[in-house]
Formats: sequence, C-alpha cells, structure tokens
Amino acid sequence: MLHAIIMAGGTGTRFWPASTATRPKQLLNLVGNESMIRQTVDRLGTLIPAEQTLIVTNRRLLLSIQEQLPELPAASLVGEPCKRDTAPCIGLAALLVSKNDPDATMAVMPADHVIRSTDRFQSALKQAARLVEDAPDRIVTFGIRPTYPAEIFGYIQRGSRIETHDGEAPTFVVKQFREKPDAATATQYVAEGDYYWNSGIFIWKAKTILDALAKRQPEMLEHLEKIGAAWGTDQQGAVLEKEFTAIKGISIDYAVMEHAKNVAVIEAPYDWDDLGGWKSLERLVGEDRDGNTIVGKHLGLNTKGTIVRGEGDHLIVTLGLKNCLIVHTENATLVANKDDEESIREVVKELEKRG
Ligand code: GDD
Ligand code: MG
Repeated sequence: MLHAIIMAGGTGTRFWPASTATRPKQLLNLVGNESMIRQTVDRLGTLIPAEQTLIVTNRRLLLSIQEQLPELPAASLVGEPCKRDTAPCIGLAALLVSKNDPDATMAVMPADHVIRSTDRFQSALKQAARLVEDAPDRIVTFGIRPTYPAEIFGYIQRGSRIETHDGEAPTFVVKQFREKPDAATATQYVAEGDYYWNSGIFIWKAKTILDALAKRQPEMLEHLEKIGAAWGTDQQGAVLEKEFTAIKGISIDYAVMEHAKNVAVIEAPYDWDDLGGWKSLERLVGEDRDGNTIVGKHLGLNTKGTIVRGEGDHLIVTLGLKNCLIVHTENATLVANKDDEESIREVVKELEKRG
C-alpha cells in the first residue's frame, strides 16, 4: 500500500514574525486560503486515504495540526519530543507503517511547499509508486530544473534514461546526489546542465529506507527500534522521550541520499516552489503595477517595490516607501529593507537570547 509521510517538524524562521516556534511556516496561510500543511494533505486527494497518512512533527505543534486536519485519526499524528532533522523522522515513520504493512511503500514529503498542479502531482506520485513496485529496492526522487545556483537545495545528477509508460514523465538513473553544495559547486552543476534540484519528496519501500539506515546510521536505528517496540504500549511516551532525545540529528539527504544506490529521478511534471522567505511572495502572490506585493488590507501612496502582509482587518498604510518589507501580526511588526530579508534569522536568534 502507498502511505503518505508528511514531515512537519521544521521551524521556518525566515517567515518571522508570522512564523513562530508554535506557529511555523507549515501552519501558516502564506499562499492561498489554507495553511501549507492543509494544502499538502489536500493535494493527495483520494490517492492516499487518511488512514494511510502519517504526519510527523514536533509535539508542541500536535494540537494546532490536529485542529487544521480534523479528519485525521489521532494515530496519524506523531509528535517528536525534540528536533532531530529528517532522518529520524523518516526512520520512525518507516518502522510505524511497516508494523501493519510490512510491504509498505512510503511517499515522504515536506509540509511546506507550494505545488499547484494537483493532477500532475498525483500522476507523478503514481508513476513513482509504479517504479518502486517494478524494482522494490529503488528510491525515487523528483527533480526540478534549476533556475539559479541555489545553495539551499540538494542536487541530483541524472544518468541514462529509464523506460517509462505512455504519458509518464521522463525518468533517469541517478548518477550522484549532492546535498547543499557550496556556491562554486552549485554554479558548476547548473552550467553542466544534467543536474536537478531535489524537490524533497522521496518514494521508497519502508524496508529499503530501514535497510539503508541500518547500514549508514545503525545507532539511530537502534534508538528508533526501541521506540517502535514500545509504540502502542503504556511505555510509549517514556521510551519516545528517552530514545528520540538520544539520537544525533541528521537529514535524510546527508544520512542516506548522498550514499544511496539504485536511485531514480523523475523530472517533476508539476510546478514547485520551496517558499524560502518573504520575497517568494512576489513570485507566488504577484506584484501590482507599482511592483508591490500585498496580502491583507493596505493603502499605499507613493509606495513601490514593497511587500506588505497584514492579518485580518488590520489596515496598513504606507507612504513614500521603496523596497520595503512590512509584516504585521498581533504580536509583532517587522519593518525592513527588502534586501535585508536574510537577516531575519539573526532577529529571531536575538529575540530568543532576550527571552
Ligand atoms: N518531523 C520533523 N522533524 N520534520 C522536520 C524536522 C524534524 O526534526 N526537520 C525538518 N523537518 C521537515 C520540515 O518541516 C520540512 O517540511 C521538511 O522536513 C524538510 O526539511 P527542511 O529543513 O526544510 O529541509 P531543506 O529545505 O533544508 O532541504 C530539503 O528540502 C530541499 C527542497 O526544499 C532537502 O531534501 C534538499 O535536498 C531539498 O532540495
Ligand atoms: Mg525546506
């Protein structure tokens, strides 16, 4: 059976002040009328039913996520006691789904991406699941054609073509997977032309990823297996706390993907955006004729190239502004030069220091 594993334990500090520790990016309505996580679940349509969907997140987000996804049974939500990056999240999910379904296929995906072409996304998932059924040891990824030498993505180098069925997207053997290369390497990859960005979605048998973790991360797997064994017993909470906390955090990209054999890449037939920060709203929400990107109630006079995001009925008025970023929430207001967007993370760190 095909199971969806939605990774939703990230922090997303670049969207401060809208994004906070208890309301990170995946819980926000940044593009469209629903939160990112709601959109992620809706995108699956009827392809994967609620009983085969697992959300793995930080436990402090469990209640808010349950509120946003009321149709999911409580057993579909897993709350980690601390952040340990994506490898433990995926390993735990693999153990939990294979308890009832030893032959489970997992579609692992982030909760915070924008993908609007739902039909094409679903056909791509079907194609990936088929490729895994045809070769059960295979790992399937989705590649996005790079538009600039980003250092924040993984890169996938494609090799020879894999035969596909009518109507399916072009698929290739993966020669190399490289997570977040430095600027010079990324520039070289983009110039070479046979690299994709990794879209962060993986399809594999639970068994494949557990075997890979046994090889690459045996200590992590030992901790996770103890959690798996206690799952559903009265020891669940205590064992989860002890064993998960003891794990050394690492992402699946470094832990497994950079070393994996038998990887295929489907050239993603759907639109994709990682929504890296406030400036991505310019692309996704669009700009008016003065180059402003506005979300919420706003009146602007002599305002150009500015991003404004308000909440509810709160009116934001701008006068004589150029190239600014203004975000108002009920708790904080950010007024910044748009080009200083990267420094928002410093702001969050400083605020954390001050408590
Ligand atoms: N449950 C859980 N626990 N989820 C987590 C954790 C954790 O400790 N850490 C991150 N996540 C979730 C995030 O919420 C996000 O949905 C997803 O896992 C990916 O984590 P990111 O931290 O956003 O990864 P990234 O963007 O730096 O890199 C990954 O995604 C890129 C595409 O956006 C990699 O897979 C790259 O190779 C890829 O290009
Ligand atoms: Mg990300």
